[in-house]
Amino acid sequence: MSHFGAETLRKITVQVIQSRKQKGEKITALTAYDYPSARLVDEAGVDIILVGDSLSSVVLGYENTLSVTLDDMLVFARAVCRGSKKALVVGDMPFGSYHINEERALESAVRYIKEGGVEAVKIEGGRTRALLVERLVENEIPVMGHIGLTPQSLHKMGGYKVQGKTLNSAQNLIDDAVTLEHAGVFSLVLEGIPDEIARLITERVSIPTIGIGAGTYCDGQILVYSDLLGLTFGHQPKFVRKYADLKTTINQALTKYVSDVQSGNFPADTESYHMSMEIVTKLKR
Ligand code: KIV
Repeated sequence: MSHFGAETLRKITVQVIQSRKQKGEKITALTAYDYPSARLVDEAGVDIILVGDSLSSVVLGYENTLSVTLDDMLVFARAVCRGSKKALVVGDMPFGSYHINEERALESAVRYIKEGGVEAVKIEGGRTRALLVERLVENEIPVMGHIGLTPQSLHKMGGYKVQGKTLNSAQNLIDDAVTLEHAGVFSLVLEGIPDEIARLITERVSIPTIGIGAGTYCDGQILVYSDLLGLTFGHQPKFVRKYADLKTTINQALTKYVSDVQSGNFPADTESYHMSMEIVTKLKR
């Protein structure tokens, strides 16, 4: 079997993502966590599916992203890969899977590719991750960077706060972006930073920037699947645009089901299986 068939050519690769910036075409990205969400996102034509560690709270119900483990992420990554045909699938490295030392980080990333089936990994952090990025890239693993409001640094930041608002911190973000580009990331998520800083970074680096709460100038945008669909419980950041209110839709459907069963309205005769009356009559004897 050839590796150069039509199927392979249609797939979105890291190279396709990078060429989008050169062509001035916006990149679309969304998280997905399981087979149905991946299928829907992929079929909508989204370029990048991120198996986000946000699943820690939006799917598993933990308070933040710090609790989810690599073993948890691998289960979801496999389901997402089964559901996506075209999008580039990126696996979010969870907290602890790349912090202890470079060897263990490489081992985690290799497991993600081998066992999870993802095509790239994402790691949070600025220039302190540069050596690790180089190591992963040297070992054939494409890496997406993530700077700004990095949720895994929740305790260090003292909460989910917009980053880069002072001269010093803005300069640090720009330096982080440039250093990560040199280290070899193929794209960079910019989260929770002012529009103007995202613009400066986007103009300064030749890799695509993907924004979330980072304004209009990024080369692409990413949102959390469940936020976009109105399926998240709790606080929504101001940058989230809710394209649907599925929580209400699902709630209405489920409460109707409950009342239909209670009232005897479900199942209807047409929703039941039937057999010949002759047999029924014999069984009654
Ligand atoms: O885990 C996540 O959802 C993310 C965002 C960038 C969307 O990292």
